[in-house]
Amino acid sequence: MLILGIETSCDETSAAVVEETGDASKPWAVRSNIVASQVAIHREWGGVVPELASRQHIRDICGVVERSLDEARTAWSDLGAVAVTQGPGLVGSLLVGVSFAKSASAAAGLPLVAVHHLAGHIESLVLQNGELPLPAIVLVVSGGHTSLYLVEKPGHYELLSRTRDDAAGEAYDKVAKLLGLGYPGGPVIDRLARTGNDRAVLLPTTRLTHADRNAPELKGDLDFSFSGLKTAVLRHVRKERAAGAPSEREIADICASFQRVVVTGLLDRLFDAARRYQAKSVGIAGGVSANSRLRAELADRGARREIPTFLPSLALSTDNAAMIAAAGLRKFRAGARASMDLNADAALAL
Ligand code: KG4
Ligand code: ZN
Repeated sequence: MLILGIETSCDETSAAVVEETGDASKPWAVRSNIVASQVAIHREWGGVVPELASRQHIRDICGVVERSLDEARTAWSDLGAVAVTQGPGLVGSLLVGVSFAKSASAAAGLPLVAVHHLAGHIESLVLQNGELPLPAIVLVVSGGHTSLYLVEKPGHYELLSRTRDDAAGEAYDKVAKLLGLGYPGGPVIDRLARTGNDRAVLLPTTRLTHADRNAPELKGDLDFSFSGLKTAVLRHVRKERAAGAPSEREIADICASFQRVVVTGLLDRLFDAARRYQAKSVGIAGGVSANSRLRAELADRGARREIPTFLPSLALSTDNAAMIAAAGLRKFRAGARASMDLNADAALAL
Protein backbone atom coordinates (compact mmCIF):
# COMPACT_ATOMS: atom_id res chain seq x y z
CA MET A 1 0.00 0.00 0.00
CA LEU A 2 1.03 3.61 -0.65
CA ILE A 3 0.14 6.49 1.68
CA LEU A 4 0.31 10.23 1.04
CA GLY A 5 1.62 12.25 4.02
CA ILE A 6 1.05 15.97 4.53
CA GLU A 7 2.89 18.17 7.05
CA THR A 8 2.28 21.91 7.54
CA SER A 9 2.66 22.38 11.31
CA CYS A 10 5.26 25.15 11.24
CA ASP A 11 7.25 26.72 8.40
CA GLU A 12 7.74 23.92 5.90
CA THR A 13 5.08 22.74 3.48
CA SER A 14 5.76 19.06 2.88
CA ALA A 15 4.15 16.11 1.10
CA ALA A 16 5.50 12.58 0.74
CA VAL A 17 4.58 9.18 -0.61
CA VAL A 18 5.63 6.26 1.57
CA GLU A 19 5.27 2.60 0.67
CA GLU A 20 4.69 -0.42 2.86
CA THR A 21 7.44 -2.92 2.16
CA GLY A 22 5.90 -6.06 3.65
CA ASP A 23 9.18 -6.58 5.57
CA ALA A 24 8.33 -6.51 9.30
CA SER A 25 11.82 -5.41 10.33
CA LYS A 26 11.94 -2.47 7.90
CA PRO A 27 8.27 -1.75 7.29
CA TRP A 28 8.36 1.43 5.16
CA ALA A 29 10.23 2.98 2.25
CA VAL A 30 10.20 6.60 1.08
CA ARG A 31 9.04 7.02 -2.54
CA SER A 32 9.13 10.83 -2.43
CA ASN A 33 9.54 13.52 0.23
CA ILE A 34 9.08 17.11 -1.00
CA VAL A 35 9.77 20.00 1.39
CA ALA A 36 9.13 23.66 0.52
CA SER A 37 10.97 25.58 3.23
CA GLN A 38 9.85 29.08 4.21
CA VAL A 39 13.11 29.89 6.01
CA ALA A 40 13.99 32.69 3.56
CA ILE A 41 10.66 34.42 4.32
CA HIS A 42 10.93 34.24 8.11
CA ARG A 43 14.67 34.98 8.30
CA GLU A 44 13.93 38.63 7.65
CA TRP A 45 11.89 38.75 10.89
CA GLY A 46 14.26 36.70 13.04
CA GLY A 47 11.74 33.90 13.59
CA VAL A 48 8.56 32.31 12.26
CA VAL A 49 5.70 34.79 11.71
CA PRO A 50 2.53 32.64 11.98
CA GLU A 51 0.38 34.76 9.66
CA LEU A 52 3.03 34.70 6.90
CA ALA A 53 3.52 30.96 7.43
CA SER A 54 -0.13 30.01 6.92
CA ARG A 55 -0.44 32.22 3.84
CA GLN A 56 2.66 30.65 2.30
CA HIS A 57 1.35 27.13 3.03
CA ILE A 58 -1.78 28.01 1.03
CA ARG A 59 0.36 29.10 -1.92
CA ASP A 60 2.58 26.02 -1.80
CA ILE A 61 0.41 23.08 -0.81
CA CYS A 62 -1.05 22.11 -4.21
CA GLY A 63 2.29 22.23 -6.03
CA VAL A 64 4.09 20.35 -3.27
CA VAL A 65 1.51 17.54 -3.25
CA GLU A 66 1.55 17.28 -7.06
CA ARG A 67 5.33 17.05 -7.07
CA SER A 68 5.34 14.37 -4.37
CA LEU A 69 2.97 12.25 -6.49
CA ASP A 70 4.97 12.90 -9.69
CA GLU A 71 8.29 12.01 -8.10
CA ALA A 72 6.82 8.83 -6.66
CA ARG A 73 5.25 8.06 -10.08
CA THR A 74 1.96 7.70 -8.29
CA ALA A 75 -1.61 8.59 -9.25
CA TRP A 76 -4.33 9.39 -6.73
CA SER A 77 -5.91 6.04 -7.61
CA ASP A 78 -2.72 4.18 -6.50
CA LEU A 79 -2.96 5.56 -2.95
CA GLY A 80 -4.48 3.66 -0.03
CA ALA A 81 -4.80 6.52 2.48
CA VAL A 82 -3.93 10.12 3.33
CA ALA A 83 -2.13 11.01 6.58
CA VAL A 84 -1.90 14.54 7.93
CA THR A 85 -0.36 16.32 10.93
CA GLN A 86 -3.24 17.32 13.21
CA GLY A 87 -1.02 19.05 15.81
CA PRO A 88 0.76 20.37 17.76
CA GLY A 89 1.97 23.45 15.89
CA LEU A 90 0.77 26.81 14.62
CA VAL A 91 -2.98 26.55 14.24
CA GLY A 92 -3.21 28.57 11.01
CA SER A 93 -0.47 26.44 9.44
CA LEU A 94 -1.96 23.15 10.64
CA LEU A 95 -5.35 24.15 9.22
CA VAL A 96 -3.97 24.34 5.69
CA GLY A 97 -2.71 20.76 5.80
CA VAL A 98 -5.79 19.42 7.59
CA SER A 99 -8.20 21.14 5.18
CA PHE A 100 -6.25 19.98 2.16
CA ALA A 101 -6.05 16.39 3.44
CA LYS A 102 -9.76 16.28 4.21
CA SER A 103 -10.65 17.60 0.76
CA ALA A 104 -8.27 15.18 -0.97
CA SER A 105 -9.56 12.26 1.05
CA ALA A 106 -13.18 13.14 0.22
CA ALA A 107 -12.48 13.77 -3.46
CA ALA A 108 -10.36 10.65 -4.00
CA GLY A 109 -12.41 8.44 -1.68
CA LEU A 110 -9.40 7.66 0.52
CA PRO A 111 -9.37 6.97 4.27
CA LEU A 112 -7.88 9.79 6.37
CA VAL A 113 -5.46 9.33 9.28
CA ALA A 114 -4.62 12.08 11.80
CA VAL A 115 -1.02 12.09 13.02
CA HIS A 116 0.67 13.71 16.01
CA HIS A 117 3.73 15.68 14.87
CA LEU A 118 5.98 14.11 17.53
CA ALA A 119 4.81 10.58 16.64
CA GLY A 120 6.08 11.49 13.17
CA HIS A 121 9.51 12.51 14.55
CA ILE A 122 9.71 9.27 16.58
CA GLU A 123 8.74 7.14 13.56
CA SER A 124 11.38 8.90 11.44
CA LEU A 125 13.82 6.64 13.32
CA VAL A 126 11.98 3.52 12.14
CA LEU A 127 11.59 4.88 8.62
CA GLN A 128 15.36 5.34 8.48
CA ASN A 129 16.61 2.31 10.42
CA GLY A 130 13.81 -0.27 10.60
CA GLU A 131 12.08 -1.32 13.84
CA LEU A 132 14.13 -0.41 16.92
CA PRO A 133 15.02 -2.97 19.59
CA LEU A 134 12.40 -2.35 22.31
CA PRO A 135 12.05 -0.99 24.89
CA ALA A 136 13.62 2.13 23.38
CA ILE A 137 14.14 5.61 24.80
CA VAL A 138 13.61 8.33 22.21
CA LEU A 139 14.60 11.96 22.67
CA VAL A 140 12.55 14.30 20.49
CA VAL A 141 14.41 17.57 20.27
CA SER A 142 13.25 20.37 17.98
CA GLY A 143 12.40 24.06 17.90
CA GLY A 144 9.21 23.48 19.87
CA HIS A 145 9.89 20.33 21.90
CA THR A 146 12.47 18.61 24.05
CA SER A 147 10.92 15.42 25.42
CA LEU A 148 11.90 11.88 26.34
CA TYR A 149 9.61 9.01 25.38
CA LEU A 150 9.61 5.37 26.37
CA VAL A 151 8.57 3.10 23.49
CA GLU A 152 7.74 -0.37 24.84
CA LYS A 153 5.51 -1.47 21.94
CA PRO A 154 5.52 -0.17 18.36
CA GLY A 155 3.23 2.85 18.13
CA HIS A 156 2.99 3.39 21.93
CA TYR A 157 4.79 6.47 23.20
CA GLU A 158 4.97 7.14 26.95
CA LEU A 159 6.12 10.62 27.94
CA LEU A 160 8.87 10.43 30.58
CA SER A 161 10.00 14.05 30.73
CA ARG A 162 10.10 17.31 28.86
CA THR A 163 11.53 20.78 29.06
CA ARG A 164 10.22 23.07 31.78
CA ASP A 165 10.86 26.19 29.71
CA ASP A 166 12.57 26.60 26.30
CA ALA A 167 13.06 23.77 23.82
CA ALA A 168 16.69 23.05 22.89
CA GLY A 169 16.18 24.29 19.31
CA GLU A 170 14.54 27.43 20.65
CA ALA A 171 17.64 28.02 22.82
CA TYR A 172 19.83 27.65 19.71
CA ASP A 173 17.61 30.14 17.86
CA LYS A 174 17.61 32.67 20.73
CA VAL A 175 21.37 32.46 21.31
CA ALA A 176 22.00 32.88 17.57
CA LYS A 177 19.74 35.94 17.56
CA LEU A 178 21.55 37.61 20.44
CA LEU A 179 24.90 36.89 18.74
CA GLY A 180 23.53 38.44 15.53
CA LEU A 181 23.85 35.15 13.61
CA GLY A 182 20.36 35.09 12.07
CA TYR A 183 17.59 32.50 11.87
CA PRO A 184 17.46 29.50 12.25
CA GLY A 185 20.21 29.35 14.86
CA GLY A 186 20.97 25.63 15.03
CA PRO A 187 22.90 25.12 11.78
CA VAL A 188 25.04 28.28 12.12
CA ILE A 189 25.95 27.68 15.79
CA ASP A 190 26.74 24.06 14.91
CA ARG A 191 29.13 25.26 12.18
CA LEU A 192 30.84 28.02 14.21
CA ALA A 193 31.18 25.78 17.29
CA ARG A 194 33.55 23.49 15.36
CA THR A 195 36.20 26.21 15.35
CA GLY A 196 35.71 27.38 18.97
CA ASN A 197 37.03 26.28 22.36
CA ASP A 198 34.16 24.58 24.18
CA ARG A 199 35.69 25.33 27.61
CA ALA A 200 36.33 29.02 26.97
CA VAL A 201 33.12 30.27 28.58
CA LEU A 202 31.88 28.84 31.85
CA LEU A 203 28.13 28.29 31.47
CA PRO A 204 25.74 26.66 33.96
CA THR A 205 24.25 23.18 33.53
CA THR A 206 20.76 22.69 34.91
CA ARG A 207 19.99 19.46 36.72
CA LEU A 208 16.41 19.28 37.98
CA THR A 209 15.73 17.00 40.92
CA HIS A 210 12.16 17.85 41.92
CA ALA A 211 8.76 17.25 40.31
CA ASP A 212 7.22 20.05 38.24
CA ARG A 213 4.14 21.58 39.88
CA ASN A 214 2.53 21.77 36.44
CA ALA A 215 3.09 18.06 35.72
CA PRO A 216 2.95 16.18 39.05
CA GLU A 217 2.43 12.88 37.18
CA LEU A 218 6.03 12.99 35.96
CA LYS A 219 8.89 12.45 38.42
CA GLY A 220 10.60 15.52 37.05
CA ASP A 221 14.19 14.44 37.55
CA LEU A 222 14.59 13.65 33.84
CA ASP A 223 13.22 17.07 32.83
CA PHE A 224 15.21 19.61 30.82
CA SER A 225 15.65 23.37 31.20
CA PHE A 226 17.42 25.77 28.84
CA SER A 227 16.28 29.26 29.81
CA GLY A 228 18.98 29.68 32.51
CA LEU A 229 21.65 28.74 29.99
CA LYS A 230 20.28 31.23 27.45
CA THR A 231 20.29 33.98 30.10
CA ALA A 232 23.87 33.13 31.08
CA VAL A 233 24.94 33.49 27.44
CA LEU A 234 23.09 36.83 27.27
CA ARG A 235 24.89 38.11 30.41
CA HIS A 236 28.25 36.99 29.06
CA VAL A 237 27.65 38.69 25.71
CA ARG A 238 26.55 41.95 27.38
CA LYS A 239 29.71 41.96 29.49
CA GLU A 240 31.90 41.34 26.45
CA ARG A 241 30.09 43.99 24.41
CA ALA A 242 30.76 46.57 27.12
CA ALA A 243 34.45 45.94 26.40
CA GLY A 244 33.92 46.20 22.61
CA ALA A 245 32.24 44.04 19.95
CA PRO A 246 33.13 40.34 20.38
CA SER A 247 35.63 39.02 17.85
CA GLU A 248 34.95 36.07 15.53
CA ARG A 249 37.10 33.94 17.83
CA GLU A 250 35.01 34.95 20.88
CA ILE A 251 31.76 34.21 19.05
CA ALA A 252 33.05 30.76 18.05
CA ASP A 253 34.04 30.12 21.68
CA ILE A 254 30.57 31.11 22.93
CA CYS A 255 28.94 28.81 20.31
CA ALA A 256 31.20 25.89 21.25
CA SER A 257 30.71 26.38 25.01
CA PHE A 258 26.93 26.73 24.63
CA GLN A 259 26.74 23.66 22.40
CA ARG A 260 28.80 21.56 24.81
CA VAL A 261 26.37 22.30 27.67
CA VAL A 262 23.26 21.62 25.53
CA VAL A 263 24.57 18.36 24.08
CA THR A 264 25.84 17.09 27.44
CA GLY A 265 22.53 17.90 29.13
CA LEU A 266 20.50 16.15 26.42
CA LEU A 267 22.65 13.02 26.39
CA ASP A 268 22.95 12.77 30.19
CA ARG A 269 19.15 12.61 30.55
CA LEU A 270 18.75 10.27 27.57
CA PHE A 271 21.22 7.72 28.95
CA ASP A 272 19.91 8.15 32.55
CA ALA A 273 16.49 7.15 31.20
CA ALA A 274 17.97 4.26 29.20
CA ARG A 275 19.55 2.86 32.36
CA ARG A 276 16.43 3.39 34.45
CA TYR A 277 14.14 1.62 31.97
CA GLN A 278 16.71 -0.98 30.86
CA ALA A 279 16.32 0.15 27.28
CA LYS A 280 17.61 -2.03 24.45
CA SER A 281 18.18 1.00 22.22
CA VAL A 282 18.15 4.80 22.24
CA GLY A 283 17.32 7.29 19.50
CA ILE A 284 17.24 11.03 18.87
CA ALA A 285 14.82 12.67 16.42
CA GLY A 286 13.66 16.21 15.55
CA GLY A 287 15.43 19.22 14.03
CA VAL A 288 18.21 19.39 16.62
CA SER A 289 19.14 15.75 15.90
CA ALA A 290 20.82 17.21 12.80
CA ASN A 291 23.46 18.66 15.17
CA SER A 292 26.92 17.28 14.37
CA ARG A 293 28.21 17.17 17.95
CA LEU A 294 25.01 15.54 19.22
CA ARG A 295 25.25 12.88 16.49
CA ALA A 296 28.92 12.14 17.19
CA GLU A 297 28.59 12.01 20.98
CA LEU A 298 25.46 9.86 20.79
CA ALA A 299 27.40 7.24 18.81
CA ASP A 300 30.35 7.50 21.24
CA ARG A 301 28.33 7.09 24.39
CA GLY A 302 26.27 4.28 22.88
CA ALA A 303 29.42 2.38 21.94
CA ARG A 304 30.87 2.83 25.45
CA ARG A 305 27.66 1.60 27.07
CA GLU A 306 27.08 -1.10 24.48
CA ILE A 307 23.61 0.10 23.60
CA PRO A 308 22.58 0.58 19.95
CA THR A 309 21.85 4.19 18.98
CA PHE A 310 19.64 5.47 16.16
CA LEU A 311 19.29 8.72 14.23
CA PRO A 312 17.27 9.81 11.20
CA SER A 313 19.09 10.98 8.07
CA LEU A 314 19.53 14.77 7.93
CA ALA A 315 16.55 15.04 5.54
CA LEU A 316 14.34 13.12 7.95
CA SER A 317 15.57 15.10 11.02
CA THR A 318 13.86 18.40 10.29
CA ASP A 319 10.14 18.66 9.57
CA ASN A 320 9.04 16.51 6.62
CA ALA A 321 5.96 14.62 5.47
CA ALA A 322 7.62 11.20 5.03
CA MET A 323 7.74 10.78 8.81
CA ILE A 324 4.04 11.76 9.01
CA ALA A 325 3.20 9.21 6.31
CA ALA A 326 5.15 6.53 8.23
CA ALA A 327 3.41 7.30 11.54
CA GLY A 328 0.14 7.41 9.59
CA LEU A 329 0.73 3.93 8.16
CA ARG A 330 1.41 2.62 11.67
CA LYS A 331 -1.89 4.10 12.90
CA PHE A 332 -3.79 2.99 9.78
CA ARG A 333 -2.71 -0.63 10.38
CA ALA A 334 -3.87 -0.26 14.01
CA GLY A 335 -7.31 0.71 12.68
CA ALA A 336 -7.25 4.49 13.15
CA ARG A 337 -9.47 6.55 10.80
CA ALA A 338 -10.25 10.25 11.08
CA SER A 339 -13.64 11.65 10.14
CA MET A 340 -14.54 14.70 8.08
CA ASP A 341 -14.95 16.78 11.23
CA LEU A 342 -11.22 16.42 12.00
CA ASN A 343 -9.88 19.74 13.28
CA ALA A 344 -6.34 21.06 13.76
CA ASP A 345 -5.25 21.09 17.40
CA ALA A 346 -2.38 23.45 18.23
CA ALA A 347 -1.78 21.79 21.64
CA LEU A 348 -2.57 18.16 20.75
CA ALA A 349 -1.29 15.68 23.38
CA LEU A 350 0.50 12.49 22.34
O1 KG4 B 1 11.91 19.64 13.92
P1 KG4 B 1 12.12 21.02 13.35
O2 KG4 B 1 12.43 21.13 11.88
O3 KG4 B 1 10.88 21.93 13.60
C1 KG4 B 1 10.15 21.88 14.79
O4 KG4 B 1 9.26 20.99 14.92
O5 KG4 B 1 10.49 22.72 15.66
O6 KG4 B 1 13.28 21.70 14.22
C2 KG4 B 1 13.75 23.01 13.97
C3 KG4 B 1 14.80 23.36 15.01
C4 KG4 B 1 15.25 24.82 14.97
O7 KG4 B 1 15.20 25.36 16.28
C5 KG4 B 1 16.70 24.74 14.47
O8 KG4 B 1 17.52 25.77 14.97
C6 KG4 B 1 17.13 23.38 14.99
O9 KG4 B 1 15.99 22.56 14.83
N1 KG4 B 1 18.27 22.83 14.24
C7 KG4 B 1 19.48 22.57 14.80
C8 KG4 B 1 20.33 22.13 13.75
N2 KG4 B 1 19.58 22.12 12.60
C9 KG4 B 1 18.34 22.54 12.92
N3 KG4 B 1 19.91 22.71 16.05
C10 KG4 B 1 21.20 22.39 16.32
N4 KG4 B 1 22.06 21.98 15.38
C11 KG4 B 1 21.68 21.83 14.08
N5 KG4 B 1 22.56 21.41 13.17
ZN1 ZN C 1 9.22 19.07 14.18
